[in-house]
Amino acid sequence: MSLDRRNFLYLAGVSAAAAAGARLGSAAPISTADAVFNPMKWESVRDQFDLLTREQIHLSSFFITSHPRQVREEIERHRAAIDANPFEYVEHNIFSMPGKIAASAAEYLGGKADEVAITNSTTMGLAHVYHGISIKAGQEILTTLHDHYVHHEAVRLSAERAGATVRKIALFDDIAKVSEQEIVNRIAKAITAKTRVLGVTWVHSSTGLKLPLRAIANVVADSNKGRAEQDRVILVVDGVHGFGVEDEVIAETGVDFFIAGTHKWIFGPRGTGIVWARAENWKAIRLLFPATAMEPFVAWITGKPLTQTVQGSWVGQGGFHAFEYEWALPAAFDFHKQVGRKRIAERIHALNDQCKEGLAKMPKVRLYTPRGNKLSSGLIAFEVEGMKSADVVKRLHEKKIIASTAPYREGYVRLAPSLMNTPEEIETALREINALAG
Ligand SMILES: Cc1ncc(COP(=O)(O)O)c(C=O)c1O
Repeated sequence: MSLDRRNFLYLAGVSAAAAAGARLGSAAPISTADAVFNPMKWESVRDQFDLLTREQIHLSSFFITSHPRQVREEIERHRAAIDANPFEYVEHNIFSMPGKIAASAAEYLGGKADEVAITNSTTMGLAHVYHGISIKAGQEILTTLHDHYVHHEAVRLSAERAGATVRKIALFDDIAKVSEQEIVNRIAKAITAKTRVLGVTWVHSSTGLKLPLRAIANVVADSNKGRAEQDRVILVVDGVHGFGVEDEVIAETGVDFFIAGTHKWIFGPRGTGIVWARAENWKAIRLLFPATAMEPFVAWITGKPLTQTVQGSWVGQGGFHAFEYEWALPAAFDFHKQVGRKRIAERIHALNDQCKEGLAKMPKVRLYTPRGNKLSSGLIAFEVEGMKSADVVKRLHEKKIIASTAPYREGYVRLAPSLMNTPEEIETALREINALAG
């Protein structure tokens, strides 16, 4: 039996809707915003975040995004179509949209559409990968002391299930003296014959430290020389705070699994994320959820064994979910493309440099984030002498500046100058921090 999409729908009992669904069309280019949006002008970029309050200075946008106009309009377009005709609109798009979303993410990542999984968050991506990788009892997951709660928990839960051990190493003793060489040396020294996975975070949301991904991937590649495929060290990266900031082609970095939410720096719909891995890495993954994909469904309905190995496109949220959000993700990648990845990286780094240089001059401020671009990205962590971080955040809030505290043991104050900010806003924030530091 030939099982193309039509047959698949027939077998699923919904073929009658296919013809009607065709009338509904799939995602078309957006919108009125295009006419007025000038991506070459930063004021116009800021204007796209048109619901973001103007009377406050938003320096915590890395937490969760305000939707830029074109993303919001795209969500609304899908929502309206679903509400108007849920069965036909969803049925018509459910198998074609994931490919389109994956293609737009793949273009940004430098990979192929089939290598991209669409998730709802960094958390879900980490769970898919850590539980999907084959780890034998007695093997080890090596990670660091600097990763986020959800990363450490994904590691713990996966190790428990596999009977593996977990080791967490410090990548530096004193962040003021940290160097690329030190990070790489520590990782190289820590990998042993038992290490099956190395899990790291690209940009630490505790301190703003950015890790040298390519250098780490090289260390892992060296450790893998002579190892059997099933014992190879797999490099897993939580990339959520570099993705959308750095002008880096992820598929060229040498990492094995790259995981990120797209609802932070990518400005995608809230509740979206991706995992990227090369096809050969996906092959070794065990699925957590039933895939909304043709091949496993066909195997199930025909009672024949599934012969194909797992692809990235099989991994995802599973089942019906908030389609209008997921399907609007390409609009966010379009937004980045329009503004330009290099320009975005330069702008965010320039604002961060300005902020760090200002903080570094304040005698009562201790800046934890490395200066310059090499080991930092869009996040800045600091403390004010004699003040609790929560109090600094509260006082800044009174001055209409939105800062945050890091959800880690140290809990530093964080600022994240982003695309919606201006140099003037950074100056205002610095002035207020200086005033409260005294
Ligand atoms: C480094 C890091 N990883 C993961 C997460 C969780 O991200 P998500 O909300 O996309 O699951 C966060 C949250 O901000 C984070 O800072």
